[in-house]
This record gives sequence, structure tokens and C-alpha cells, in this order.
Amino acid sequence: MDLKDSSAIVTGGGSGMGRCFVEQLAKAGARVFFCDVNPEALAATCLDFGVQGTLADVSKEEDVARLFDEAEAAIGPINTLVNNAGILRDGLLVKKDRSTGEVRGLSKAKWDAVLAVNLTGPFLCMREFATRAVQTELRPAVAVNMSSISRAGNYGQSNYAAAKAGLVADTVLWAKELARYGVRVGAIAPGFIATPMVAGMPAAALEQAIAPVPLKRLGQPEEIWQAIRFIVECEYFTGRVVEVDGGLRL
Ligand SMILES: NC(=O)c1ccc[n+]([C@@H]2O[C@H](COP(=O)([O-])OP(=O)(O)OC[C@H]3O[C@@H](n4cnc5c(N)ncnc54)[C@H](O)[C@@H]3O)[C@@H](O)[C@H]2O)c1
Repeated sequence: MDLKDSSAIVTGGGSGMGRCFVEQLAKAGARVFFCDVNPEALAATCLDFGVQGTLADVSKEEDVARLFDEAEAAIGPINTLVNNAGILRDGLLVKKDRSTGEVRGLSKAKWDAVLAVNLTGPFLCMREFATRAVQTELRPAVAVNMSSISRAGNYGQSNYAAAKAGLVADTVLWAKELARYGVRVGAIAPGFIATPMVAGMPAAALEQAIAPVPLKRLGQPEEIWQAIRFIVECEYFTGRVVEVDGGLRL
């Protein structure tokens, strides 16, 4: 699909990569609408790039339906979805306190929060996107799911790795199920990218994360945008993951 023909929803467009995708889509001539749960970030992206957005939580069914209704009213039928919103709530499965001997497990609250935003969210958005595309026989249409290098099983990320691996499995099967309707589905698995999500990591952890990266640096959001652009534009790409990680293997 030519980017100029794209009417796109970006989830989590208030910060980091989502903000970059909103900016780049608008620059490329696409019509863009986005959502976020952070009102300040939402307002800043709207103001900075002259685009429209709404407060919506991708893990809530009613918010997702409203997001698509508002987006359609603002920019017309949606033929591009970037399932980008995501959160981290890291922790070891169990951890023994050296001094007290107490063993603590990863809380169910952390598990549920990450699965809700990073897996249920993309499912709800994808279902809404596909329902409307199939109903209106809108084609071509394309969706991009943000997975992660962590899907391979990154230390301390039981919840996040499960969500990101699940999202890749669903990318493959959604692509198979939706091909007959002219809907393509791709995923991107970034390595460590310079965004507020990564800036929140302790300095020592960040240093440790970068050390084994062959290219010896964090990736930039614009470098992940290049993968979005490829997936949107290449009509023979579906059901696969583009890995943009500086050569790192976890
Ligand atoms: N930064 C990295 O190194 C990295 C690596 C691999 C994958 N990813 C993935 O890329 C995506 C973007 O990451 P980022 O680093 O730009 O993160 P970020 O934290 O900078 O931005 C995420 C945005 O999503 C919003 N958000 C959070 N929960 C939401 C919800 N329930 N509904 C709607 N919006 C919500 C946040 O408010 C924020 O604006 C995420 O899915 C993340 O898991 C990031």
C-alpha cells in the first residue's frame, strides 16, 4: 500500500516509537489517528504533529470500539493498524531474599497487567480492525504488531515474553485467516530501542543489555519506522516478523 493511501490508527502514539510512527505517517502523507492512556502525551503528539487522537485503553473492549468510531469519523475507513501500545512490569518468577530467606514470586497483578495491554490489547484492536475491513470489503488493508526480541524468553520477563511470543503466533495465524479478505498482518521484533520505556531501565541493566549487541548501541525509533514502512508498502509480506535488533540474539 502506498503510504499516501493509508488511513492509520497507531495505539500508544503519545510516546516513544508510537509517537515517531504518528509523526512519520503524517509526514509521508497518510491520514493518522492515535490513542494513548496518558493525557499529556496525547496532547503533545496532537499539538506537535497536527494530528488527532483520543484517550483510550487498548485492553478495554469499549475503549477500542470507541477508538475506531472516532478514528473513522476523523479520517475515514481505517486500512492500516499499528498495534504499538505496550508496557513492562518486569520481575523474576521467584526471588529469594539473601538476608531473610523469603521467597517471593512475580505477582499475578504484574502478569495480568502486561498480558492485558500487550496481548489482549492487540487482539481487541485487530478484531475491531478486521471486522470493519471485512464488513466494508475494504482492501488492501494491513496491520503491524509490535513484538519484541524478548519473545525468545528474556530473563525477568515471564509476562512480557509470553505476550510478545503470543503476538507473533497470532500474527502468523491472523495473516492466514485474513488473507482471503485482502488483509495483511506483519510483526516487528525490535531489540533495545531508545525510548522512554528503555530510559526507565537502571543504568547498569542498560549497559548489560547493550554489551552483547553487535552494533553496540540502542536502536532509534526511526529505524523501527523503516520496518513499519516496509510492511505497509510490500504487498507480498504477511504472517512474518521483521527483526530490527542490531544483530542481538538473547
Ligand atoms: N523500547 C524498546 O526497546 C522496545 C523493544 C521491543 C519492543 N518494544 C515494544 O514497542 C512498543 C512501543 O514501545 P516504546 O518503547 O515506544 O514504549 P513507551 O513506553 O515509550 O510508549 C508506549 C506508549 O503506550 C502508551 N500505553 C500504555 N498502555 C496503554 C494502553 N493500555 N492503551 C493505550 N496506550 C497505552 C503509553 O502511555 C505510552 O505513550 C511496545 O509494544 C513495546 O513493548 C519496545
